[in-house]
Amino acid sequence: MTPLIALSGISKSFGPVQVLTGIDLVIEPGQVVGLLGENGAGKSTLMNVVSGRHRPDGGRMELDGAAFAPGSVAQGIASGIRFVHQELSLAPSLSVAENLFLGNYLSRRSGFVDRKAMRSRARTLLEAVGLGDVDPGLAVSHLRAGEQQLVEIAKAMVTRPRLLILDEPTSSLTPAEAGRLFALVRDLARAGTSVIFITHRIEEALANCDRIVVLRDGRLVSDQSARETSRDELIRHMVGREALFAYRGGGRPGAGAQPRARIQGLTDGTHLAPISLDVAPGEVVGLFGLLGSGRTEFLETLYGFRPHKGGSVEIDGTPIVLGSVAAAVAAGITLVPEGRKTRGIFPTHSVRRNISASSLARLSPMGFVRAGQEREETDRLSSDLGIRMHSAQQAITTLSGGNQQKAIFARAMEAKPRLLLLDEPTHGVDVGAKADIYDIIHQLAREGLSLIVASSELTEILAIADRCLVMSAGEQVAILDRDEMSEETILRHAFTRHA
Ligand SMILES: Nc1ncnc2c1ncn2[C@@H]1O[C@H](COP(=O)(O)OP(=O)(O)O)[C@@H](O)[C@H]1O
Ligand SMILES: [Mg+2]
Repeated sequence: MTPLIALSGISKSFGPVQVLTGIDLVIEPGQVVGLLGENGAGKSTLMNVVSGRHRPDGGRMELDGAAFAPGSVAQGIASGIRFVHQELSLAPSLSVAENLFLGNYLSRRSGFVDRKAMRSRARTLLEAVGLGDVDPGLAVSHLRAGEQQLVEIAKAMVTRPRLLILDEPTSSLTPAEAGRLFALVRDLARAGTSVIFITHRIEEALANCDRIVVLRDGRLVSDQSARETSRDELIRHMVGREALFAYRGGGRPGAGAQPRARIQGLTDGTHLAPISLDVAPGEVVGLFGLLGSGRTEFLETLYGFRPHKGGSVEIDGTPIVLGSVAAAVAAGITLVPEGRKTRGIFPTHSVRRNISASSLARLSPMGFVRAGQEREETDRLSSDLGIRMHSAQQAITTLSGGNQQKAIFARAMEAKPRLLLLDEPTHGVDVGAKADIYDIIHQLAREGLSLIVASSELTEILAIADRCLVMSAGEQVAILDRDEMSEETILRHAFTRHA
């Protein structure tokens, strides 16, 4: 089968900015292709090249196997390519029918405009996009944004395109309107029209496209059948490994002010030699060490979960009673332990109850839970943290590992902590959730929360930590500032007591 359209090595710059680099893409007749990528990835620009608005600087295109170089949008349309942009282009004071046929009036053989034919064709087109109830004589300004978007799509269909390109068509549509649009896209594809569909909604692309293509920084980084890829893989392609592990922090916010936490000579007398560390408000301290270096023991001693044998801890200048979890929690210290399966979740309970679990005392001052407040607080947290689920009522075990971990985060935030201790926060979660969790940590720190994050992954420490406390065989061996932190330096310190 000859492809409908084939791009090879397409590149495009605007002035000094290279926006597209070496794009190869083949679209078969009747195929529905999802085009994904972060903002600025080059999706619209690429489609502007295909549709004739922009001329590429390099590479070539073929249509039906013959060289194709449209010099204008009109030439693109004449070749059967229609690009429905994100921004609406309708004339608001004209009627729906007039808008549909603007520039494409149907005429009789005599040359006169055939109003009757236009009206009946308008009805058919509106029906097709799910606007069967809309009067074609109505001025466009009377329609909602979503309806205008659908008129825009109906207008593109007037010329019976062979390739229909839709740029984020569903962002202004209701779920019912979007469903109708997807049904239309399937009908068009069955009749041989190819559709390229730009969207930010990955699930939508997975459910409605045959193939999904991902652009990142102007390069095509993945091209797969929708059945063979997954949400998390697509996110990984969109975000990219480099970006995932890029340091998001901005030094030590609040450094110089009174420390949020002042830890002096804290020890458990057995596994842990005395540790001293100040944590500033809004600071993320990474805690690195090899297996058995005492990271977890340090966090648990700080949290009052293990007996201590000396040292002191102050939170915002107030000393806390050591050796008591209740005292630590009351002072604003919260620990999210490693291993959500064994210690983190209440598997028989809903997502909502898992989030509110540690705040039930506050949420039930009269002995019974204030369900409204519980719902409101847990809903806000799950949306802030981007927990993907159908309903907060579903059992937590039905969520993916990454989303379970976010629910545990949400629970920790319910306790409104001042110092949050995270032990291996991304252990066992997929890479998409990892990126989300790094973003959450960064956001919490920006809001002034102080964090100590234990991790056995150097890439993770480098992605999130403003400073790094390195432990070796139960001893604090170094506190590294951001500019001293590198995989090599951290590892060298971690091996100090192993030599
Ligand atoms: N006409 C233009 N002139 C200059 N820069 C542009 C122009 N169009 C797009 N860009 C730049 O090209 C990059 C890709 O933009 P775009 O194709 O709109 O990305 P996307 O649709 O994936 O969000 C962005 O950095 C954008 O600022
Ligand atoms: Mg765009």
